[in-house]
This record gives sequence, structure tokens and C-alpha cells, in this order.
Amino acid sequence: MKPIIYITRKLPQEAYADLQSSYEVRVWPKTEIPVPRDILLEEVKEADALWTMLSDKIDQEVIDAAPNLKIVSNLAVGYNNIDLDAARKRGIVVTNTPDVLTETTADLAFALLLATARRLMEAEKTVRSGKWKAWTPMGMTGQDVYGATLGIIGMGRIGEGVCRRAQGFNMDVMYHNRTRRSLEDARYAELDELLKQSDFVVVLTPLTDETRGMIGERELSLMKDTACLINVARGGIVDEDALYEALQSNKIWAAGLDVFEEEPLPTNHKLLSLPNLTVLPHIGSAGIQTRLAMMKLNAEAIGACLSGKSVKNRVC
Ligand code: DGY
Repeated sequence: MKPIIYITRKLPQEAYADLQSSYEVRVWPKTEIPVPRDILLEEVKEADALWTMLSDKIDQEVIDAAPNLKIVSNLAVGYNNIDLDAARKRGIVVTNTPDVLTETTADLAFALLLATARRLMEAEKTVRSGKWKAWTPMGMTGQDVYGATLGIIGMGRIGEGVCRRAQGFNMDVMYHNRTRRSLEDARYAELDELLKQSDFVVVLTPLTDETRGMIGERELSLMKDTACLINVARGGIVDEDALYEALQSNKIWAAGLDVFEEEPLPTNHKLLSLPNLTVLPHIGSAGIQTRLAMMKLNAEAIGACLSGKSVKNRVC
């Protein structure tokens, strides 16, 4: 019997075609609906490898239900959806998809920054809804980006990508990171200092026990009332209740979010009542070539692990 690979979402067949000659590849056949928990728990009973999405919670219960499991390969650079301790205890390899998504995610971060600063979504709606009556001297005005101060929280590969883009906008870049980096185009700052001085704050740190709720009421109160907060990392890092209050009371000027505590964001969520919030449906790495490159890394990791070779992009 061939080893079994379970893929938790419908992917382009070309992404796993190479694995099909040596392995039995089973796929949850829906594109938009994540695999239901009970089906995942059933499928993992026989699986040697799991190819997961960031929407799948791979916790102790899943690991316990999977006696043959050797690898979990996540289609994302983030892996906060996987219980690494539980995997480690069982000697299960976990991999992610770094590097290939860096530039695409940095593009999206910068696009969201620009869209938020210059109110692009609101402006587009004005045209389409027939509310564009005349050019007005202060109509649809936003915050200037060129020459502004940018604060990056979490200066990893994607942070460096955002910093490179900021050079073209002549921005003064500061960053806060667990470890100080020696960077030419960005200076280190303590978090409070960064929040006080930045015109744009971009959150790029991974979601961990330490970063959960890192941007809350106190942090938002330190920001300029003309500042924009951009989050393309993970929802849990920014306290959404505190952000709602800060936006509603104009304590900060605007925010742009690609990620949320609960995804998909319910359509009746109070955040959606705010005019100074730009929202996207978690599309940081959503470039066609990028997503295919991410899938290639997953396929390679699974193939290597199941054939006893050394596995790249291991997070444990
Ligand atoms: C990731 O890879 O972690 C991104 O959030 C996916 O868009």
C-alpha cells in the first residue's frame, strides 16, 4: 500500500502531480470551504502526510488521531495554526513556505498602506455609486505617503521587503524587532517610540504567545491621530476591540487590515461599520506565481520526508 498524503483543500492538480506516482494523494475537494473538523479527524487516521492551509487547526487532537503522520506541510509562511509542541513530541516534521512569498506579501503590505492612506476603496465607491459630483479642493484627501515616517513591527524578510519599497517613497523607516538588525535603511526603535513617531505602522511580526494582543489600547493611544495602522501578519496581534475604539474616536486616522482574529470576518462585524478602515480577505501572498511556488515547496517537503531525504523549510 502506498503512503497516504491528505491535502486539506482543492489545489491545482499540477501542484501535486509529481507525488501521485509514489503516493496515494487524497484531496478535500472544495475550494472555498475548509475541510470540516470531523472529516479531517477521520482522514488523518490513515495519513502519512498532511498538506494544510492556514485555516486548519492542527492541534493535539489531530496529532493524536494520526498514528502514521510524519509531516505537516503548511501552505503559508505563518504556522500559528499548528501546535508545534504536539508535533515535536511525536517527531512529526512541520514545514512552511518562506522566501517565495516575501516580495508578493511586501507588495500587498505597501498596496494596503497606499490604499488606506489615500482612501482608494472609498474613492472607487464614490465613482461607482454616482456620488462623485465635482472635483473639490479637500475632497477625498488622505495622508501623504512620500517622505513620511514608517514604523515596521517585525523586521524579518517581509519587513525588509516593505523597507525596500519605502525607499522609493523617500520614507524615514524605523523598526522594532525581537533582535536588533544591522540595516542600512532602517533604524531600531523601542516599540513605544516607534508608535509615537510613525505616520504609518505596519505589523509584520508572527503571531505567538508573546505577540498576541501586542497592539492594544495603550499602544494605539501612543500613535499620532494622523497615523495609519496596517496589519498583514495575523489578526490576533492587534486587539480588534481596542482598534475599533481608536478608529471610531479618531484616536488614529485609519487602519488597513488583511487579517482578522476570526476569518472570514463576519459581515455583521462592528469593524465593518467604520468608514476609516480598509479591509482585504487575507490575500498577502495571493500572486498566481507565488502561490504555485509555495505549493511546490510543500510538495517537495512532503516528497523528501516520505522518501527519507532531508527536508527543507522545517519549522520543527
Ligand atoms: C502566510 O503565508 O502566512 C500568509 O499569511 C498567507 O497569505
